[in-house]
Amino acid sequence: MGAFWHISIIVFILLSGESNANPAAPRQSQFDVNHRKPLQTFRPYNIAHRGSNGEIPEETTPAYLRAIEEGADFIESDILATKDGHLICFHDVTLDATTDIANRTEFSNRKRTYEVERQNMTGWFVVDFTLRELKSLRVKQRYNFRDQQYNGKYQIITFDEYILIALYANRVVGIYPELKNPIFINQHIKWSDGKKFEDKFVETLLKYGYKGEYMSEDWLNQPLFIQSFAPSSLIYMSNMTNSPKVFLIDDTTVRTQDTNQVLSTHFPLRLM
Ligand SMILES: *[C@@H]1O[C@H](CO)[C@@H](O)[C@H](O)[C@H]1NC(C)=O
Ligand SMILES: *[C@@H]1O[C@H](CO)[C@@H](O)[C@H](O)[C@H]1NC(C)=O
Ligand SMILES: *[C@@H]1O[C@H](CO)[C@@H](O)[C@H](O)[C@H]1NC(C)=O
Repeated sequence: MGAFWHISIIVFILLSGESNANPAAPRQSQFDVNHRKPLQTFRPYNIAHRGSNGEIPEETTPAYLRAIEEGADFIESDILATKDGHLICFHDVTLDATTDIANRTEFSNRKRTYEVERQNMTGWFVVDFTLRELKSLRVKQRYNFRDQQYNGKYQIITFDEYILIALYANRVVGIYPELKNPIFINQHIKWSDGKKFEDKFVETLLKYGYKGEYMSEDWLNQPLFIQSFAPSSLIYMSNMTNSPKVFLIDDTTVRTQDTNQVLSTHFPLRLM
């Protein structure tokens, strides 16, 4: 979609809930026992967007490991949900551009047309495949001008796997996951316990110990920014976690996924 090409203006909205951060509290995490090299805070953060995707197909384990090797402070990802409710790292709602799905004849009848953000799209949609099916696919580079030698080698990874890459790095590496297309995901995926995509997303982060306001001890130990283009999802999640949230803004004439309004009608932003 053309919208992905716009330069996103990132607005930091520190949707602060009640402050739970207590710098004197003992560290709870099981992952800080190594006294790893801390996150640098003296210069702007270097955020590896979809991993080192200029070299290696985006949002794969090798792309993230390479980004960490190259010095990224944060690894960034897009989170979507599978047909059976698992959260995965994948940018597009369709598999067409970055996997070998077109060559997988057993899935040829799985092509669909759905409305996504007021546009009809046709392709193989992530939400029509189970995690097991998605794991059987292989990822490829999005663009022909990039190195094609890693096509067909790596799998799609889960949100959990992505988090573990950061947590098991040999220094503190932050995560920067985007809650992707929440309206579309909640339309197509129903979790058995009545929970929404936003609930599952935050539950995953809490499960691994991610919490705390920006620059709190908890945050510095496991740095996290939550991002989304959907303001109502950020507000919803602000009730469940005090981790910092980033509201992504596209071209200000583009209607947001959830409010169906252009950004100019949101200003002044009333998210606090
Ligand atoms: C699909 O199959 C064709 C023909 O075998 C091959 O050239 C191409 O690289 C394959 N594409 C992917 C993404 O695996
Ligand atoms: C999508 O296609 C359906 C079926 O042809 C149509 O009813 C609907 O209006 C289309 N939606 C958009 C946004 O074009
Ligand atoms: C936030 O959570 C509390 C307790 O779980 C609940 O009572 C309240 O209604 C929630 N508020 C919003 C805006 O969702």
